[in-house]
Amino acid sequence: MKGVILAGGLGSRLRPLTNITNKHLLPVYDRPMIFYPIETLAEAGIRDVMLVTGGGSAGDFLRLLGDGSQFGLTTLNYAYQVKEGGIAQAIGLTRAFVGHDRFVVMLGDNLIQRSIRPYVEAFAAQESGARILLKEVPNPRDYGVAEVRDGKVVSIEEKPAEPRSSLAVIGLYMYDSAAFEYIDTLKPSGRGELEVTDLNNAYLAAGRLYADILEGWWSDAGSSIDGYLETNIKAARMRRSGGAG
Ligand code: DAU
Repeated sequence: MKGVILAGGLGSRLRPLTNITNKHLLPVYDRPMIFYPIETLAEAGIRDVMLVTGGGSAGDFLRLLGDGSQFGLTTLNYAYQVKEGGIAQAIGLTRAFVGHDRFVVMLGDNLIQRSIRPYVEAFAAQESGARILLKEVPNPRDYGVAEVRDGKVVSIEEKPAEPRSSLAVIGLYMYDSAAFEYIDTLKPSGRGELEVTDLNNAYLAAGRLYADILEGWWSDAGSSIDGYLETNIKAARMRRSGGAG
């Protein structure tokens, strides 16, 4: 199982903090934001990771993260996204790295409180396809939102004005290598991006999408400045209490 972490994008919702640096290099409590997703994947036993970034701070990631050995990784690989073409476009850049393996994608601004190991094991046990994680939130309009009927996802909408549920699709996605063929068929959305929600909907249409409800908290540090503050507070509690907070 390979790992992919996305750390490109413009971070426009956190300006002016992101005027001269990449969002994922900002501190979250006592460490740079990007440490959290790397630690989450490493803890789940994922040892070969590719980080996708872009913009003017790309070299800073190499200086900060090096070869990934400080996190227990076997290899840490880097890809450069020239333009902010969307999450699915960024995933497409990892095609040669992933090859025919399965892979776990984590958004670089997402923090997950507990181990993701049970979900990765469930994915490894499924025959093929994709697996996503859902979490009940008070503000579903800010996220991809899943409609669930009889325990099955029946639709996913990206930041809907009128959400059909309060279940956000969090930034941790598990795919087989068919993801790259689906990405080839995607068209840019209204905001000019290849959307991860469209990739997940392609799996859904093929009857190959599975979902779990996440236990413990999840936080999107890049959603807004208040989301960033809230994520810092959650991370501080978690780290002070050794994971339980
Ligand atoms: O946090 C979960 C949400 O993340 C999901 O519920 C949404 O369905 C999904 O679209 C995404 O929404 P955001 O608006 O939060 O996405 P954002 O633009 O903040 O990008 C998320 C991460 O992906 C961020 O760490 C930067 C990276 N990224 C983003 C874009 C657009 C890239 O590496 N390249 C890109 O082109």
